[in-house]
Amino acid sequence: MTLRALLFDVYGTLLDVHGLTDALEAAAPGQGAALSALWRQKQIDYTRLRTMSGRYAPFDEITADGLDAAAERLGVHLTAPQRRELLTAYETLAPHPEVRVALEALAATGMRLGVLSNGTPAMLRTAISAAGLAPLLPIVLSVDAVHAYKTAAAAYQLGPEAFALPVGDIGFVSSNAWDAVGATWFGYRVFWVNRVREPMERLGVSPEATGRSLADVGHWVAAARA
Ligand code: LAC
Repeated sequence: MTLRALLFDVYGTLLDVHGLTDALEAAAPGQGAALSALWRQKQIDYTRLRTMSGRYAPFDEITADGLDAAAERLGVHLTAPQRRELLTAYETLAPHPEVRVALEALAATGMRLGVLSNGTPAMLRTAISAAGLAPLLPIVLSVDAVHAYKTAAAAYQLGPEAFALPVGDIGFVSSNAWDAVGATWFGYRVFWVNRVREPMERLGVSPEATGRSLADVGHWVAAARA
């Protein structure tokens, strides 16, 4: 088996999902970091609950619901303009600083590159072009096509179909430990970008490789293709 293509998760892996912490802190002094963390947790919880019960709603709606739930839980009142501004800013989250150079280097190896994300097609188009990454990521796969969020097999199946490759020839790169586990279960060769030195989830598998940022993916790809 050799690596022929790479798929990246988007939120957290390419884009900084905690990039709005300063804006959240301005809206809720003393609670910006907690609000950002709980927003993300609620958002991911809702993708799982909706998928488990066949109650799909698009990721932009789930993202708004997650913000509202997190704010209410923390006793934060967001005004309608604050809420709108936060959700608008979420559409153009900044990429992590190393992402562009790392993707350029990976593209130069001749690997086919793309993303497979919970984001809607419109969210992904907007965010990826705002981050200046569109030319580097020709394949953009949204789980919206199957109305099931990761870690559902139907979501991960989009990758082998789009590349017309066996799943074992595709690398999957995610900073979300649960996504690295899901992709490993599905059969991808997985690189976990462990940005904040988290422990691996206890789910019975480990990703093939781990690093601290996207800059570490190149060494793995070179070794995996050798
Ligand atoms: C994604 C989220 C889950 O991009 O990180 O799929």
